[in-house]
Amino acid sequence: MKITIIGTGYVGLVTGACLAELGNDVFCLDVDQKKIDLLNNGGIPIHEPGLEEVVARNRAAGRIQFSTDVAASVAHGEVQFIAVGTPPDEDGSADLQYVLAAARNIGKHMTGFKVIVDKSTVPVGTGDRVKAALQEELTKRGADAGFSVVSNPEFLKEGAAVEDFMRPDRIVIGHDSTAEGQQAAALMKKLYAPFNRNHERTFWMDVRSAEFTKYAANAMLATRISFMNELANLADRVGVDIEAVRHGIGSDPRIGHSFLYAGAGYGGSCFPKDVQALERTARQYEQDLLILRAVEAVNDKQKLVLGRKVVQRFGADLAGKHFAIWGLAFKPNTDDMREAPARMLVRQLLDAGATVAVYDPVAMAEAQRVLALDLNAEELARVRFAASAMDTLDGAEALVIVTEWKAFRAPDFDKIKASLKQAVIFDGRNLFEPDVMSQAGFEYHGIGRSI
Ligand code: NAD
Ligand code: UGA
Repeated sequence: MKITIIGTGYVGLVTGACLAELGNDVFCLDVDQKKIDLLNNGGIPIHEPGLEEVVARNRAAGRIQFSTDVAASVAHGEVQFIAVGTPPDEDGSADLQYVLAAARNIGKHMTGFKVIVDKSTVPVGTGDRVKAALQEELTKRGADAGFSVVSNPEFLKEGAAVEDFMRPDRIVIGHDSTAEGQQAAALMKKLYAPFNRNHERTFWMDVRSAEFTKYAANAMLATRISFMNELANLADRVGVDIEAVRHGIGSDPRIGHSFLYAGAGYGGSCFPKDVQALERTARQYEQDLLILRAVEAVNDKQKLVLGRKVVQRFGADLAGKHFAIWGLAFKPNTDDMREAPARMLVRQLLDAGATVAVYDPVAMAEAQRVLALDLNAEELARVRFAASAMDTLDGAEALVIVTEWKAFRAPDFDKIKASLKQAVIFDGRNLFEPDVMSQAGFEYHGIGRSI
């Protein structure tokens, strides 16, 4: 099938590459000329395992192209995916300006029937707004081409995006019951048929329910994390190991093991903004989502927990003290630092007067860009961007681990001990066992592990 993807970011590029891999003829549009030039020169704008190979293979086969040409993009696809950003507005609601601009562009140029697919995460009712914006453009130029707006939210995780897209747990498609809506559903069914070969994974519903399902999923996952973080903080006080508790409750199939890891707080481009946007939707309907407000508040506090533990141990004045930080990306296997807990930790330690040496296996360039925005020149001068994990350690009072990269899971502890000024580790992702660490001669501070 001929597919257009509007917005070649994380979701757009992965969707485009994976649909091309299945044999479709994909046109990826973006307004960012630099991004398109990079892709056309064989580069990849994000770090995502496996993506580079899929893009290269399909580019070579002529199944995927990258362009900023709006008219050509509209002419290309019978299905037009909107995968642009929906960042938080000042009041926390989703900013729909990019989604609506994409819809208008389609309305300005389309001639025949098109299926418009909202893949971006958008609040309930956005399907109607996309329809109205597009229709307005058609009316302006006296055109009457048919179209239907479908909701097909994306559930991929960064760091596992290609795998998640290719092997989805479920595909959610919301469409309306008009003749055009049925025609759109038939096209979506054909497009997603390769994913449903062994068993049917698609859930068909109305557009508003599909839009809501996406927020409900992210809000539920964020709730589990904040719940575990809150329990972990109590565990620290009452002498309980939150990891034992995690196993103990996760084995109940009604609870399950996933997303029960206490840690340094959730970050990334989605949980923080989607929890806020759902709260905002509720407020528009005069409802107060008490649980979600708490989820957000607990997470904001949790991002400060590691820094607080350091201050408790070394004092509020950290002037003249140096710390090593491992892991800057908001999670492993990505270079994304949006809302990353490491940014809060760096801020806290610098505010207390410390100097830091930081390292991440892939996010170093992004860290330099982002920390240059977060910090002033004097603060930035107190940050050293190290060449390796071991290179952070010399002269540091302690090592602080923020992201659970595989490369940090079995380090050379003797070398760490020999390099640090004091054998102290703050582990924001509970990578190690407290008793093993103590036998190895370390003072070990995990999250919820003060047993
Ligand atoms: P992103 O910022 O990585 O990419 C968005 C792209 O859209 C950018 O390259 C931008 O230049 C482009 N763009 C903006 N306006 C445009 C226009 N009018 N025409 C063409 N291109 C335009 O964003 P993302 O992380 O891919 O997120 C996109 C949406 O998907 C968001 O709603 C997000 O919540 C949702 N989502 C993201 C993830 C994820 O893991 N990142 C997962 C599921 C859902
Ligand atoms: C999340 C969802 O998992 C995806 O299904 C969804 O499509 C995506 O948001 C989105 O809407 O954009 P992502 O943000 O890429 O994906 O990453 P996650 O693996 O969900 O991790 C998010 C944050 O939660 C990370 O900071 C991670 O460290 C933290 N986390 C995760 C925990 O603290 N504990 C856990 O048990 C799991």
